[in-house]
Amino acid sequence: MGCQMNRLDSELVISRLRAAGHEMTDDRKSADVVLFNTCSVRRHAEQKVYSRLGAEGQRKQHNRRLIVGVLGCMAQREGEQLLRNHPQVNIVCSPGQLARLAELIEHVAGTGGAVLALDPDRRARGGGAEEEADRDEFDALDLSRDPSQSPSVAQAFVRVARGCDKFCSYCIVPFVRGPEVSREPSRIVQEVLRLVEAGRTEVTLLGQTVNSYRWCDGGRTVGFAGLLEQVAAVGGLRRLRFVTSHPLDFGNDVLHAMRDLPNVCPYIHCPAQSGSDAVLRRMNRKYTRAQYDDLVDRARGTVPDVVLAGDFIVGFPGESEEDHAASADLIRRSGYKNSFIFKYSPRPGTAAARMRDDVPTEVKRWRNNDLLAVQAEVGLAHHRSYIGRTVEVLVEGPSPRAAKQPTPAPPGQTQMLGRTRGDHIVVFDGEPNLAGHYVDVRIADASALTLMGSINLDVS
Ligand code: 5AD
Ligand code: SF4
Repeated sequence: MGCQMNRLDSELVISRLRAAGHEMTDDRKSADVVLFNTCSVRRHAEQKVYSRLGAEGQRKQHNRRLIVGVLGCMAQREGEQLLRNHPQVNIVCSPGQLARLAELIEHVAGTGGAVLALDPDRRARGGGAEEEADRDEFDALDLSRDPSQSPSVAQAFVRVARGCDKFCSYCIVPFVRGPEVSREPSRIVQEVLRLVEAGRTEVTLLGQTVNSYRWCDGGRTVGFAGLLEQVAAVGGLRRLRFVTSHPLDFGNDVLHAMRDLPNVCPYIHCPAQSGSDAVLRRMNRKYTRAQYDDLVDRARGTVPDVVLAGDFIVGFPGESEEDHAASADLIRRSGYKNSFIFKYSPRPGTAAARMRDDVPTEVKRWRNNDLLAVQAEVGLAHHRSYIGRTVEVLVEGPSPRAAKQPTPAPPGQTQMLGRTRGDHIVVFDGEPNLAGHYVDVRIADASALTLMGSINLDVS
């Protein structure tokens, strides 16, 4: 569940469990071990886990040897309480402890008991030598990666940093994922190199605030622009992306790197969260609306054909109609390809949870729908501007619609789905064996979220 960081964690955990002799099954009912990699960012995500845990509890009444694990952000947020309130749970494992999972499963299988593997509480951390020891352990999961196990034939995620130090007032991430720690550049480059050798040609660098990446070693400092330069130099890497960016750390050096390095994709996911200065201040976002507008202008002025995407929260404490209108205005002004829009959800322990959650549920719902409608209009105009152009598409595979068809399509007629360098979704008719290849598609039509076109026959 949850963000791309979680998807990567799940992939790396699966790879390690396979190496330890476990097998994956698609049939949950036949599994001896069920692991939930969880998200705490909104209450809704946690509720889904509780209901799934309920179902596993029922199953456990018939199969007492079943092992149930809760991994990731909820494990860190709830800790021991998960074991106390949910006796069907055997393993609680925080994001920083996932490298130990095979060992934990073995322990539980041997003893029939329960184990807690939690990251240190960041409020209790000492820093200094203790932090140094963490540094060596914290990328154990990434270092043990088997690049041939990446699920997509062409695409892979690579972590550049863990944690977050921004403390936006609504956000649980700094508490559950801990302080921001960047990985050593040479380890990141090595991982990308191994993925390319295993056939991956597109890599997405991941960080909670990826562009605040900073590695200091003696007198040498590598910032995010420097890291992009080092990774982009890996031979055979056709596309390099990164998510998610924080507006405050988006310097011109990163924009220049995007402009000058041919394999760095012109796509920026840089959440604004709100278009109103008053709300941004209460959110502790540390930038103003004018600074965000300036970033959009610098990006458009520097990186040809740059594509922008955003996140917004509606119904933050104290958000007025005027504040809401400012968010709608920011979507229009920024011309996003797409935006993720969320209703504010108070998270225990955060600064905003101490503010009065005073925007009524139905107003949150209305504002959510309103921003979705504005974004749909802006997204449609953005996508329509591609009609008549030919774009390079990395083919992912048959579209979900094609995958649902009961009978196979005639040759060359399967609806295929892929992405442009700007992260647009493109559908076109082609052969299923194009997955993982780059094709040129001429765009004939567009909707708010998708480009539709037909393939030019030169395949690379
Ligand atoms: N309520 C609603 N949305 C949230 N996000 C983070 N915390 C909350 C919260 N408490 C959203 C932000 C962030 C995205 C991943 O989730 O928009 O960018
Ligand atoms: Fe959460 Fe803000 Fe950090 Fe993003 S930058 S993970 S929203 S605290």
